[in-house]
Amino acid sequence: MKPVCVITGGGSGMGRATAKLVCEAGYHVILVGRTAAKLESAVAELTEAGHEAEAFACDLSDRSSCEKLARHAVERGQVKALLHIAGMSPHMGSPEAILRANALGTVNINDAFYPVMAPGGCVIDTSSMSAYLSPSFIMPKRVYPLARTDREKFLKKMMARINLMPKNARTGVAYSISKHFVIWFAKTDAARFGAKGVRCLSVTPGNFDTPMGQLESAEAQTFTAHSALKRNGKPEEIAALYALLLDERLGYLTGTDIVMDGGVIASGVSGLSR
Ligand SMILES: NC(=O)c1ccc[n+]([C@@H]2O[C@H](COP(=O)([O-])OP(=O)(O)OC[C@H]3O[C@@H](n4cnc5c(N)ncnc54)[C@H](OP(=O)(O)O)[C@@H]3O)[C@@H](O)[C@H]2O)c1
Repeated sequence: MKPVCVITGGGSGMGRATAKLVCEAGYHVILVGRTAAKLESAVAELTEAGHEAEAFACDLSDRSSCEKLARHAVERGQVKALLHIAGMSPHMGSPEAILRANALGTVNINDAFYPVMAPGGCVIDTSSMSAYLSPSFIMPKRVYPLARTDREKFLKKMMARINLMPKNARTGVAYSISKHFVIWFAKTDAARFGAKGVRCLSVTPGNFDTPMGQLESAEAQTFTAHSALKRNGKPEEIAALYALLLDERLGYLTGTDIVMDGGVIASGVSGLSR
């Protein structure tokens, strides 16, 4: 029986590109997202190529759906990999919807998979370089631990910080804060998963040519112009990173954030990133 890899956001962009490599590496892949049609078309592509893949439609902001997904995954075999790549960008919803999907979605999926991950496995959450490029004083770091004890209070306090910002900046701030939280959450979750022999880390993408990247392209151009490589990343480049990070030979790599941004942060676009 093949080991199982669950890929959230597997119906498009980075998740879909990653699914191909992970299938080639010998996993049974479960693709997750809200839109069944997108997932089914990705599954069809993979099965036509002779791979083992299936779709599971669910909204990650719904905790019970994440638990149902985890129960389903473990029935398929040993769950060795959770690639949580799904996310909502500033143009995809309200500040609250973005927080619920990106921040609470990460809590929900890590919590749901904690009991089912097999030793030697790896959990990877996905952030964004906006977590590094936004001023650190806007990040409500003291609120973050509430995500583990009182999720509704966590959401209320995160929203209170966002609502201090001008109305037209709120979706962007919600995105940056939610992704800053993801890095904190993955780092602090590493000890919990480590006790089971499972690694937990995050990946921070820069600008990539995906459906989301196209939606955000106006803002992205400012950063790309100042980056080391002066181009967007290709989905298959970050897919290679996700696939590589699952390799058990990297068994000592956990509790950290891996940046793949073509050198934007290194270029110091924002003085605050230094
Ligand atoms: N592309 C970039 O330039 C860039 C830059 C920095 C960070 N990122 C991060 O990289 C990750 C992948 O993005 P991408 O560029 O590949 O974008 P994408 O093609 O838009 O993929 C995002 C996926 O997330 C799924 N999703 C969104 N909300 C969800 C929810 N509540 N529950 C379940 N699935 C949900 C979407 O499917 P449904 O809509 O069907 O649910 C979609 O397939 C995201 O976390 C994003 O924030 C991207």
